[in-house]
Amino acid sequence: MTTGCFHGNVAIVTGAGGGIGEAIVYGLADAGAAVVAVDIDAPALEALERGAGDKALNVTVLPADVSRPAQAEAVVEEAEKRLGPVDFLVNCAGVLRVADALSLTAESWRLTFSVNVDGVFHMSSAVARRMAARGRGAIVTVGSNAGRVPRTHMAAYCASKAAAAAYTKTLGLELAGSGIRCNVVLPGSTDTPMLRSLWTDDTGPDGSLNGVPSEYRVGIPLRRLARASDIANAVEFLLSDRASHITMHELCVDGGASLGS
Ligand code: NAI
Repeated sequence: MTTGCFHGNVAIVTGAGGGIGEAIVYGLADAGAAVVAVDIDAPALEALERGAGDKALNVTVLPADVSRPAQAEAVVEEAEKRLGPVDFLVNCAGVLRVADALSLTAESWRLTFSVNVDGVFHMSSAVARRMAARGRGAIVTVGSNAGRVPRTHMAAYCASKAAAAAYTKTLGLELAGSGIRCNVVLPGSTDTPMLRSLWTDDTGPDGSLNGVPSEYRVGIPLRRLARASDIANAVEFLLSDRASHITMHELCVDGGASLGS
C-alpha cells in the first residue's frame, strides 16, 4: 500500500487488462479495496483474475465495451449487485491511433473518441448518478499529457484526451456539492503495451527520453519512462482521503516531459 487504506471500499477500474489499468487494480486491491476490473479484452481479464487469485486479492472481472452505454450501465449495476455501493471509478480504458492529421480516417477519429471520451462519459454517468444519491465518491480519469501539449501524428488522441479531462473537471464542479471529487491524472510515456506498439526497433524509448526536435518534442527531464506503478500511485493518492480537499485537478506524471505546462 502506498498512499492510503481502502479497506471496505469498492472500486471500478476500466482498461484493467492493460498496463496501467492492471497496476491500478493491483494497487487498490493490495490496499484492501474490492476491485471490479473492466476491459473489452476478455482473455486479458482472465489472466488478471488468475494473477489476483494467486495473491488472494479481491478482484472481480467483468468484460465490457465502455463505449456502449448499455454495457457501461450493466457493468456498474452488476458491480453494485455483487459488491455493494461503488466508492471509486477509474476511467483508464483508452486507445491510440497514430496518423498524420491530414490522413487520419473518420473511422480512427470515431473509434478514438468512442473509447477515450464516450467511454469516460458512459462510465462516469452510470457511477456518478449512484454516488450522488449517496453523497460520496471519487472519480479519476486517466488522460494524457498529450491532451495539453500537441503531438505530431496524434491529433485524434490529443483532442480526445483534452475532451475527457474537460468533461471530468466539469463533472467535478457539478458534483462537488454532493461530496464527489473528480480528478484527472495525465501520464507521459509509460512502459506499457500501448507505448511499445509505437516502437519499431530497440531504439524505441530513445525518442521519448531524448526528445525529437524535428517534431518539436522535448524529452523526459527525469531520464526514464514512467512505470505503470508511477501512474497507479498518483491515481491512488487522488482517490484516497489524503486528497479529500482536491477536486477538478489535473496531476501530470510525465517526468517533466511537458515542462510543467
Ligand atoms: P494499454 O493499451 O496497455 O491498455 C488499454 C486498455 O484499454 C486495454 O486493456 C484495452 O483492451 C482497453 N480498452 C480499449 N478499448 C476498450 C473499450 N472499448 N472498453 C473497455 N476497455 C477497452 O494502454 P495503457 O498504456 O495501459 O493505457 C492506459 C491509459 O493511459 C489509456 O487511457 C491511455 O490513453 C493512457 N496513457 C498511456 C500512456 C502510455 O505511454 N502508455 C501515456 C499517456 C496516457
